Amino acid sequence: MVKAIRVYELGGPEVLKWEDIEIGDPKEGEIRVKNTAIGVNFIDIYFRTGVYKVPEIPFTPGVEAVGVVTAVGSGVNNLKIGDAVYHSGSAMGTYTEEQIVSVEKAFPLPPIDPLVVASAMVKGLTARFLVRTWFKVEQGHTVLVHAAAGGVGSLLCQWANMLGAIVIGTVSTKEKAIQAKEDGCHHVIIYKEEDFVTRVNEITSGKGVEVVFDSVGKDTFEGSLACLKPRGYMMSYGQSSGMPDPVPLSALAAKSLFLTRPSMRTSGISKDEMREAKGDVLSKVGSGALRIRVNHTYPLSQAAQAHADMADRKTSGSIVLIPDGSSGQ
Ligand SMILES: NC(=O)c1ccc[n+]([C@@H]2O[C@H](COP(=O)([O-])OP(=O)(O)OC[C@H]3O[C@@H](n4cnc5c(N)ncnc54)[C@H](OP(=O)(O)O)[C@@H]3O)[C@@H](O)[C@H]2O)c1
Repeated sequence: MVKAIRVYELGGPEVLKWEDIEIGDPKEGEIRVKNTAIGVNFIDIYFRTGVYKVPEIPFTPGVEAVGVVTAVGSGVNNLKIGDAVYHSGSAMGTYTEEQIVSVEKAFPLPPIDPLVVASAMVKGLTARFLVRTWFKVEQGHTVLVHAAAGGVGSLLCQWANMLGAIVIGTVSTKEKAIQAKEDGCHHVIIYKEEDFVTRVNEITSGKGVEVVFDSVGKDTFEGSLACLKPRGYMMSYGQSSGMPDPVPLSALAAKSLFLTRPSMRTSGISKDEMREAKGDVLSKVGSGALRIRVNHTYPLSQAAQAHADMADRKTSGSIVLIPDGSSGQ
């Protein structure tokens, strides 16, 4: 038996139950992994609340973790007991002390702090596809990043800055504004205090921005469209404040705008593209070009508190769950 977070009904953080579960032995092509650091992503909240459809109920949330191999099934030749691995994308979630993982979903841990790797992959890959694939940020572009101090937002700002863009970030507090500045924002707007559309208009002298990276959704969507220059790109890649209202085509026609709702799950990313993107993220993290901010850790048993804090906008950077009794390494 191992301890895991289980969800029997969709709802608030209180539906995350701490329970004993049976995981069994790995079958052909599988490994058993004792998780040491579990990355928390806002999408875990979408699955918990039903914004994204879960494959089955009950389920264990979580889409990524770092851990140590404790058993291998037949046909597994590239990993052995004791190897440290990162894994992501298995059917069963990662909010568990130990789990069975398809060997295809795991790779050996690079020589980088495990807490950093557990924080870097889903968020880093999202940032990378946003600035390099779904939209290509170029030198001289002006870009607007909402939730600029968040897990993905922090990396988006750093990456867009690295590519030579003028970066405008929005955040909810002064503390988050300091972080966003450090992460490469040339201008930071505290959107709880200032009207971000007016400020973007002032900053760009009325020209608008080439692209908005909008993960906030309902509260920012309309304003984001207003910040774009003619033929600008609206990258609506999340909805932490709720689903945006339906958009009439006339809202795009007003400035011949492009609107996309890209997702790593549905944009047909090939294995080669993913391999290249992972390599890029890990090399930038390893070299220090991308700073991963592990700002919060919680014991795995306290996952509900982590979810509550994230939903209440109390967090910045990344959150990692540490299985009780583990050092996270
Ligand atoms: N499309 C994809 O493939 C993909 C993949 C991964 C993640 N994502 C998206 O990326 C976004 C960021 O994910 P993350 O894990 O890094 O989370 P996060 O950005 O660290 O956390 C959410 C942030 O959103 C902001 N926010 C604004 N209004 C909010 C509200 N009403 N409730 C809660 N938060 C609000 C808060 O920042 P302030 O306090 O500064 O406002 C909050 O800290 C999510 O929307 C997620 O869906 C998309």
